[in-house]
Amino acid sequence: MRSTTRAGSGVLATGMAVVLLSTSASAAPGPGAPGAGDVYYPGAGNGGYDVSHYDVRLTYQPDTDELAGTTTILANTTQELSSFNLDFGLKVNSVRVNNVPADFANDAADPSELVVTPKNALAADQFLTIAVEYADTPSKVEIDGLTAWKKTPDGALAVDEPTSSEWWFPANDHPTDKATYDVSVEVPDDAAAISNGNLVRKTKQREGWTRWNWRSTQPQATYLTFLAVGAFEVLESTTPDGQPFITAYDPTLGPNLPAAKGSIERTPEAVEFLETAFGPYPFEAQGGVATPHLGFALENQTRSVYDGEFFKSGTNMSVVIHENAHQWFGDSVSLGQWRDIWLNEGFATYAEFLWSEHAGEGTADELAEYLYNSYPADDPFWQVLPGDPGAENQFDGAVYDRGALAVHALRKAVGEEAFFEILKTWQEQKKGGHATLDEFIALSEKISGKPLFDLYQTWLFTKGRPSASPNGQPS
Ligand code: ARG
Ligand code: ZN
Repeated sequence: MRSTTRAGSGVLATGMAVVLLSTSASAAPGPGAPGAGDVYYPGAGNGGYDVSHYDVRLTYQPDTDELAGTTTILANTTQELSSFNLDFGLKVNSVRVNNVPADFANDAADPSELVVTPKNALAADQFLTIAVEYADTPSKVEIDGLTAWKKTPDGALAVDEPTSSEWWFPANDHPTDKATYDVSVEVPDDAAAISNGNLVRKTKQREGWTRWNWRSTQPQATYLTFLAVGAFEVLESTTPDGQPFITAYDPTLGPNLPAAKGSIERTPEAVEFLETAFGPYPFEAQGGVATPHLGFALENQTRSVYDGEFFKSGTNMSVVIHENAHQWFGDSVSLGQWRDIWLNEGFATYAEFLWSEHAGEGTADELAEYLYNSYPADDPFWQVLPGDPGAENQFDGAVYDRGALAVHALRKAVGEEAFFEILKTWQEQKKGGHATLDEFIALSEKISGKPLFDLYQTWLFTKGRPSASPNGQPS
C-alpha cells in the first residue's frame, strides 16, 4: 500500500504522446528494481509492485528452531515486470505467481534478495497473488553478518529494526510499502505465539499443537510486524475505550517481572495521555510484551516489545511512553527514508519530557536544560547529526537526546498553540502513510508562519553544541 500517487499518465491522451507510448510499449518488460531507493539501505524494499496484504501462515517448533509454512502476498504491479524481487533469507521450496509455478533464485551477490521470474511477464497495474512456501532454521541464517532472529530457551523473537522480516516472511521490506496482515502461527501447546493487532482466535487441528491467529487491519510496516514465541503468561483485557489489550510476560523475567507488569499494564493510560498531545490513537488494539532476551525495546505496531532490563530499578513509564509515542511517530506516520529517523526517535524521546511534566517529575524546560548541559561541548555526542546521522549511527544517543532537544527548540520557537497544532496536523495528514523530514519542516513553517530554516539547521544539521540551550540559555 503506497500512499504516494504516481503522476504523469494523463499526458498519454494527446496525439503526440501516443507516438511515444507505442515506442515504449514495444520495449520488452524489464525486472523490478532490487531496492526501494533508500539512501541508507539501497537493498531494502523492491520496485515494481505494491503490497496490500500479507497472509503469513507458519508452524514453529522451538525445540529445533524449525519454521515452515506459506506466506501469501496480495499486491499490484506498478509497471510491466519480467521478474521482481522479494526480501527474504530463508530456504524457499516453491513460489507461485497468480497460481502458476514461478522460477525463483537467490541473487548470488545478495542472498537476501529472492528473484522471482513468473512464467509470463506481468502487465502493469495488475492484481497479483504471490504464494511462497518455505522451511528453514532461522537462527542459522546470516544476512550481512547478522541474525536478527533470536532463539530463546523456549521459543524465539523476530523483533528488530530496521529489518527483521527477512528471517520469517518474504516481503517488500521498506516502510514506504505498508500493508495489512494476518499472522497465524502454530506452536506446541506449552508455548504462546504473539504478534500484532487482535487475537482473532486460537485454533487446534492436531494433538499437542495450538495455532494463534492474529490480524492487523491498519497499514503496517514490515519491520514493525513481529513474532514472539515462548512460554509467556498472556493477559487479555479491554481498554476503557473498548479496545483489546493483550500483554505477554516471560516468566523468567525474575525480579523485573512485577515492575514490567506495573509499567506495561498502564499502557492504556499512557495512550490516553499521548492522545492529548498527538490526537486520536491510530490503531485497533494495544498491548506489550516483556522478555529478558531482546537487549532493547521496539515499537511493534499495537504491541511494543520490551527487554526486562528497562524495569530493573522499578516501574519505568518513560519507556512505555516512548514506545507508545512511536505508534504515532514511526508506526502510523512512517519514514519515507531511514535517514529521517529523527521523525521517529526525536518525537518519541520528547514524549518522555511531556509525560515527566504531566507526572510532576520535572518540566520539559527543566529536562531540556539539564540534558543540554549534561553533554560537554567537546563530547563526541555533538558530532552526530540527528537530521542525517548515517546508517551506522542511526540509533546513536544523539538521534534521541539531541533529537528531543530539537523538538523542544521548535516548541519554544513557535509557542504552545502552534507546536501542538503542528503535531496533531502532521498525524492527521499523514496517518497510515509515510513522510519525509522536508515535509515536516514545511508543515511547521506553514502552521507557525515563521521561517524555521536556522532552527532546524542549528539543531539537526550542524556539528557541535549549539551556543544556547533550546530555552535560549547560553551555555
Ligand atoms: N526504535 C527503537 C526504540 O527507540 C530502537 C531500536 C534499536 N534497534 C536495535 N536493533 N537495537 O525504541
Ligand atoms: Zn525509539
